[in-house]
Formats: sequence, structure tokens, C-alpha cells
Amino acid sequence: MMYQAAADRYGSMPYPHCGRSGLRLSAVSLGLWHNFGGNDDFDRQRWIVRTAFDQGITCFDLANNYGPPPGSAEENFGRLLARDLKPYRDEMVVCTKAGYTMWPGPYGDWGSRKYLVASLDQSLKRMGLDYVDIFYHHRPDPETPLEETMAALDHIVRSGRALYAGISNYNGERTAAAAAELRRLGTPFVIHQMRYNMLVRQPETDLLPVLEREGIGGIAFSPLAQGLLTDRYLGGALPADSRAAGSVGFLKPEHITPERLATIEALNEIARTGGRTLAQLALAWVRRQPSIASVLIGASKPQQVLDAVRAVQMAPLAGDEIAAVEAILGGQS
Ligand SMILES: NC(=O)c1ccc[n+]([C@@H]2O[C@H](COP(=O)([O-])OP(=O)(O)OC[C@H]3O[C@@H](n4cnc5c(N)ncnc54)[C@H](OP(=O)(O)O)[C@@H]3O)[C@@H](O)[C@H]2O)c1
Repeated sequence: MMYQAAADRYGSMPYPHCGRSGLRLSAVSLGLWHNFGGNDDFDRQRWIVRTAFDQGITCFDLANNYGPPPGSAEENFGRLLARDLKPYRDEMVVCTKAGYTMWPGPYGDWGSRKYLVASLDQSLKRMGLDYVDIFYHHRPDPETPLEETMAALDHIVRSGRALYAGISNYNGERTAAAAAELRRLGTPFVIHQMRYNMLVRQPETDLLPVLEREGIGGIAFSPLAQGLLTDRYLGGALPADSRAAGSVGFLKPEHITPERLATIEALNEIARTGGRTLAQLALAWVRRQPSIASVLIGASKPQQVLDAVRAVQMAPLAGDEIAAVEAILGGQS
């Protein structure tokens, strides 16, 4: 049976503008960093992506190196497009990136024009696409002139491989310099992807003011701190199917320290009082920033997507809820 997207998928998802651009993003985006690799169950991947699209999520985030093995998330997404989503291509914002190690030798990493153009060509092949909507430089390269990397993004857009350019993991100062260069080139630079959540607040002082000033949209990755800001680890649990218990990735059981657990438990109390899950509180807290257009979640189950979608349908955090969160987080960064 051919997949038919839910008829009511645009009923309740907000679509904020991405900065001062015409591009609108679903307030929740789905990332394929984890759970979409070559060893992950394909039917489950399909169920998660279909659930997301049926709920009005239009923005799907990939990178050349997502897997493992690197490249396999893009291949799987290509299969999902071919089987289910190709008829809906114009309703989707497909994003990919390059900037981390992808192939051996001097041309498979960082920020040269040589690497970025070749990598995007490979990504397009893996996904079976003619273009992506957003192409990001994944991390700053201290050894390549910023002008070269930005000229590569400009070329990529002008060549039709991408519609918009973005950067990720750049600090405020480098973001301002990138924006100036891309403005000079006339490149549609619309988005910055940064780690931002209740446990990582550095963007508030360094980056978000630059985004507001420049009119660039923010998309916050790991808004749930890879699952720490959910009910997964409450009470000291370490579920066998959780990211921290798995062998892939960077979240390890030792990151769940007694101090962190105490913070998470206290935040969960505030969430419960406000009628939210902890994940919903964490997402609402990120979304209170005017420059954040979308929260970029990961999911190992369709239910987690539904939980996030519900979060953006709820009322924004009230002043007293924000104050209660601040009282717990006070001093953390
Ligand atoms: N630009 C960059 O450098 C960069 C870096 C990292 C990520 N990203 C992007 O951001 C995306 C999201 O990152 P992330 O996966 O770390 O995001 P996250 O949303 O902070 O964490 C996702 C994980 O949290 C758990 N979870 C999610 N919703 C839940 C819920 N409602 N209840 C309970 N547990 C829940 C799941 O873990 P379990 O597996 O334990 O169920 C899920 O895999 C990535 O896929 C990628 O696209 C970009």
C-alpha cells in the first residue's frame, strides 16, 4: 500500500519564519543522527519519519557522517523518500551538512571548497535528490579562510545544489563574520544550528544576540540533552534501550551524575506541576527564545515525536514557570 500522508497534518503545527527569511520551518524538526544508521531497524525508522510527517514536521536534518556507518542515515532517508515521501518533496525541508571527517586523505574533512562541494554531491546521490533545501557547514575550520568556506556555500547555492546556506557550531563572533561575508556575496544565509538546552546555555550570551541582530534563524539541536531532559533516566534508571545504555554515541552512564540527576528530578517536578512531561518543559524552555525557529529533536520511538509535537501545541511557559526553572538552573552553564 502506497503511503498517504495524514490529511490534517497542517492543522496544529506552528511554522515560524526562519529569521528574517521567507523560509518557514516546522516548530519541531526531526534529526537522523541516531537511530537511522545501517544497523537500525528500517521499519522503525519508517514509522518514526511517517509519524513526524503526519504530525506536520516538514524539516528533516541529516549530515554526511550520520550513521553508523557514515553515510547510512542519508542512504536510509533516500530509501524512505523513494518508498513514501517522494510525492511530498515540495512539502519538505531536507537539510544536510559537511564539516566532520567523512573520507580519508586531506579532502574529506573540515571546510575547504574541495571538500564541501564533493561531499554534497555524494549526499545528493545517497538521498536520490537533485538538491537539498539547506546545506550547512557543520563546524568552523580554524585552518581554512572563512572567505573560502563561505564562497563554497555561495557556489553550492548558485549551482542549484541547495536553496539556502547555514552554519553550525560557530561562535557568535565567527557567525557575525560569516554573515558579513555571505551578505557581501548575496548568499541566502538563513540559519544557524547550535546545541542549546537547559543544561547548555552558553548561546544565550554569545550567539543568540548575534542571530537576532543579523536576522538569522536559530535551530536548537539536542534540546533534550540527548535524552537527559526526559523521563528516561529519572530515579536513576538506565533503560536497556536508552541512548546512554547503548554502545553508539557520546552519551554515557557516567554523564548521569548524582548532581545532574538531582537537577533533572527538580525540573521534572516543575514540569508535572505545569501539566507537562519533562521533555515538553525542556522544549518549551528552548522555544521561549525569539530567535529559535525550531527545536531539532532525535527520536528512537514514534511516541517521542508525538510528545514533542504536543509540546509546541501547549501554551508557552508562564513567567513563574520560567522563574522556577531559573532557580534550579541558577549558575549552571
Ligand atoms: N550540528 C551538530 O553538530 C549536531 C550535533 C548533534 C545533533 N545534531 C542534530 O540534532 C538532532 C537531535 O539531536 P539529539 O538526538 O541529541 O536530540 P535530543 O532530542 O536532545 O535527544 C534525542 C533522544 O532523547 C530521547 N527522547 C526524545 N524524546 C523523548 C521523549 N519525549 N521522552 C523520552 N525520551 C525522549 C531519545 O533517546 P533514547 O534513544 O534514549 O530513547 C532520543 O533519541 C540530531 O539527530 C541531529 O540532526 C546536530
